[in-house]
Amino acid sequence: MQIYLDHGATTPVRLEVIDLMTEVMRSQWGNPSSLHEWGERSTMVIERSRLQLANLINADPEGIIFTSGGTESDNMALMGVARQYQTPQHMIISSVEHSAVRVPAEFLEQHGWEITRLSVDRTGQVSPQDLARSLRPNTVLVSIITAQNEVGTIQPIEKLGQICRNADVLFHTDAVQAIGKIKLDVQALPIDLLSISAHKFYGMQGIGALYINPLSTNNLITNQRSLIPLILGGGQERSYRSGTQAVAAIAGLGLAAELAEKELSPESARLIKLRDQLYALLTDIPDLMPTGRMGTDRLPHHLSFYHQRIDGRRIVREMNFAGIAISSGSACSSGAIAPSPILLAMGYSETESKNSIRLTLGKSNTEADIEWTASVMNQIFSWL
Ligand SMILES: Cc1ncc(COP(=O)(O)O)c(C=O)c1O
Repeated sequence: MQIYLDHGATTPVRLEVIDLMTEVMRSQWGNPSSLHEWGERSTMVIERSRLQLANLINADPEGIIFTSGGTESDNMALMGVARQYQTPQHMIISSVEHSAVRVPAEFLEQHGWEITRLSVDRTGQVSPQDLARSLRPNTVLVSIITAQNEVGTIQPIEKLGQICRNADVLFHTDAVQAIGKIKLDVQALPIDLLSISAHKFYGMQGIGALYINPLSTNNLITNQRSLIPLILGGGQERSYRSGTQAVAAIAGLGLAAELAEKELSPESARLIKLRDQLYALLTDIPDLMPTGRMGTDRLPHHLSFYHQRIDGRRIVREMNFAGIAISSGSACSSGAIAPSPILLAMGYSETESKNSIRLTLGKSNTEADIEWTASVMNQIFSWL
């Protein structure tokens, strides 16, 4: 039996999405910038996807800029804002950001920017009061992850965004793990910039989007000074992101978004039930401790633990021998021997941070998968 429990790393592309992308590659392969019929057909495909993705987050489609994925969108937010300024200013991130935010922030710091990294509590949440206290007259951007990839903790985005809005500071959130899992309404939430990646909700890898709020009250955006693009060229995507669009991948992203929107409520409820069942079946394993928040403010498909004695990568290998895919620390940094910086930031020791594992459920998982996974884990931990 093979069971995939690593949907936080990537999801399989859904069959409907593969079929649509194949169809687009066969018959709508024109360059969307071309003025003829072939080009127009591709433009229509792209604009339909923009609408589908916009619907998922209740956005104005004008604000959706297609990119190559979450990493590019995060880079575009941080670097695009930073490049507006002749002299280094101040940015705030959390201490539990994905490397796609953490590393650009480090880069800016090396170039003279002041970076504040908000600390988190033991569950991985930042405190809005802390954010309010950390704002300075020269703060130009706050970037806080919507839901943390390793421990599933959802941040108080509304409160954080409101603090930024009141202070007229741009607010970016990396929603890569949250999109399609929890309801996000960018018109109800005070968000200026939001990163999206298709391969976390059954689209393909290498395609994503940055939402740039066209109605933002922040001058940086409304005064048409906007973000400085990372990629310059032919001026596609309203000049925010040049380069011929990946029409088929974008079509797939649009359909994946439409289906995610339709299925979000029932699928989240189903995943919460399965996840809680799995958690209940693992609680008797000695020395296996949960991380992140339990109950509210946790992604519906997400479970994470650390073991008091056993290295996370060893657990991943043993589970893999048994045909079950899970991950240790962040899948994006797997292979790295360093302890998880996320667990360290949450106050865990080096050993505990090295011993972390993550199980992330998805569409194909059934109750039988959960029961089998629990029995395999109970067995493995009995002799490890
Ligand atoms: C929270 C978060 N942000 C950004 C990314 C990067 O997205 P992409 O793989 O599309 O570049 C990931 C990928 O794991 C992620 O989990």
